[in-house]
Amino acid sequence: MLLAPSILAADLADLAGALALCEAGGADMVHVDVMDGHFVPNLTFGIPVLAALRRRTHLPLDVHLMVNQPERLLDEYLAAGAARVAVHLEAVTHLDRLLSHLRKRGVKAGVALNPSTPVEALVDVLPALDFVLLMSVNPGFAGQAFLPRALDKTRRLKALLTESGAAVEIEMDGGIDRDNIARVVAAGVDTCVVGSGIFAAPDPVARMSELRERARQENP
Ligand code: DX5
Ligand code: ZN
Repeated sequence: MLLAPSILAADLADLAGALALCEAGGADMVHVDVMDGHFVPNLTFGIPVLAALRRRTHLPLDVHLMVNQPERLLDEYLAAGAARVAVHLEAVTHLDRLLSHLRKRGVKAGVALNPSTPVEALVDVLPALDFVLLMSVNPGFAGQAFLPRALDKTRRLKALLTESGAAVEIEMDGGIDRDNIARVVAAGVDTCVVGSGIFAAPDPVARMSELRERARQENP
């Protein structure tokens, strides 16, 4: 299991501190939630913030674009230092073109799905994908409750991947905490995004170890 702390749930007045916690806790990457106030009602980080984060950590930046028409500023996100980019299927018209562009630029290409979007919608782009980001909450805010249907979606996606032979990693985002991380990993998730489950904990570094431990115990 790879762990991707979502810094949206951290103290936003101290992002450098949040990055330091991610590093101290052995995070595999840092999940950055970009929101445009249109695709989702909320506004968060933009390109200058991404570039500033890049200068402060060696960890890969896992950029989750919750924006309409992500192709408009895609190259700017890449130049700012994204290592992985997920665009929402619901926000893109020419998904195949966008995914090839990401790969050409040496970035891991991902597609995010809202809870209401079936995984079967991805069947024709699987070979162009490096990862799928399954939302286990409706995107827009940290701290929401996990939607258990995401586990069934994960199993269905896993079956599709096995059938197609595509090497695509599964990432899950929203409401993951110590109480459900084992079930999430057991369902087939490779990368867990955790926001409040880490940054609202009294000791975020210790919580990261606990999350890894719980995921391992249930999935030896
Ligand atoms: C929600 C974001 C998530 C969120 C996760 O729209 O995409 O990454 O920050 O936070 P928690 O783990 O608190 O649900
Ligand atoms: Zn996210």
